[in-house]
Amino acid sequence: MQDLAGKHIVLGLTGGVACYKSAELCRLMVKAGATVQVVMTESATQFITPVTMQALSGRPVYISQWDVREPNNMPHINLSREADAIVLAPCSADFIARLVQGRSDELLSLMCLARPIDRVPLLLAPAMNREMWSHPATLRNLAQVQADGAIALGVGTGAQACGETGDGRMLEPAELMEDIVAHFQPKVLAGQHVLVTAGPTFEAMDPIRGITNHSSGKMGFAIARAAREAGARVTLVAGPVHLATPRGVKRIDVQSAQQMLAAAQSAAQDANVFVATAAVADWRPATHSNQKIKKDGSGRAPSLAFTENPDILLTLAQGERARRGQLYCVGFAAESENLVEHAKAKRERKGIPLLVGNIGPLTFGQDHNSLLLVDDAGVRELPRAPKQVLARELVAEIAARLPVWKPA
Ligand SMILES: Cc1cc2nc3c(=O)[nH]c(=O)nc-3n(C[C@H](O)[C@H](O)[C@H](O)COP(=O)(O)O)c2cc1C
Repeated sequence: MQDLAGKHIVLGLTGGVACYKSAELCRLMVKAGATVQVVMTESATQFITPVTMQALSGRPVYISQWDVREPNNMPHINLSREADAIVLAPCSADFIARLVQGRSDELLSLMCLARPIDRVPLLLAPAMNREMWSHPATLRNLAQVQADGAIALGVGTGAQACGETGDGRMLEPAELMEDIVAHFQPKVLAGQHVLVTAGPTFEAMDPIRGITNHSSGKMGFAIARAAREAGARVTLVAGPVHLATPRGVKRIDVQSAQQMLAAAQSAAQDANVFVATAAVADWRPATHSNQKIKKDGSGRAPSLAFTENPDILLTLAQGERARRGQLYCVGFAAESENLVEHAKAKRERKGIPLLVGNIGPLTFGQDHNSLLLVDDAGVRELPRAPKQVLARELVAEIAARLPVWKPA
């Protein structure tokens, strides 16, 4: 996915062990369609060579403000004027202190100071020993640098190169990528709380077995990520799936439809948007055995009776918040045929403003999908594309409908 297509990123490296991760970050940004210009402090070159960064970015690395390659001999001006963003990864404690003071005695700090502050965002990924990270001077400097307009991307926690364990590790390249991509998305859901249900449910018949379905959760997780990128607070209620939680999203894991309903109802108390992508089992075994149901040697299979599960979408769509116009409900229908008819009928049945139809076998487990949007105005297709792309389109569609929506 070309999430950074057309973007020009200046990647600044400062002196820290985490420089080894910046090679991978650079590679990921290039793979995502960005052009990357690397600028390194002298200290950074002690940790990783400019040769590696040049090879990965495909551009000569800048280190000195006295670089004669620039016709006007002002790399700090030229490099910062071209950038859509400057990303400092890793950003040392020393460099944060220098940013706070507006120091400009070498190229990278000079370039940060000289950047057009309203047009070129400065994102920094701190990386340091846990004692350095929790030192009052660092905390003070970090608060100041953010007050001055920089965006701090947070740190990870765990084993550090020095042998200690704690906060201050640089975020992993994939995590940084998620944050950098999110930075460029329009904040069309800022101030909203979006609730998403995703994945299948698992309806146990005994401690060993149960019934479930092929939903992978990928579409719902993509929508949760897109909503977060759009500036929303996001709660993701997930059935049993093996997917990483999107950055900044609050995830609640559940198994059964009843658990999913309880978690969704609780989160819906202050949610403004509910997107029901979960493939909730329509029925569950009527009884649950506390012990494994055994073969009795008679050759007869046990007869299973089923009970209907609660309808999570209908329950929330008929709830007080939806009726008062405070909760915009979006349903998903996974069908095997007659998608338009089934999607329209489901929207009517649930009494919701927007229903999204997709073909089950063409979406379950896949990274691509196509969506059919059904609302009062009619039917609109979002053609086959990566689920993350479709999720961003759907989020934009929801955001456009929110201000004009009135409950039926
Ligand atoms: C082996 C080694 C590892 C270091 N790792 C870090 C680090 O992870 N984070 C940090 O803030 N400083 C670290 N430092 C200290 C910085 O490299 C030092 O403050 C340097 O002056 C930073 O220069 P710069 O900000 O111009 O890149 C380390 C120093 C050494 C010798």
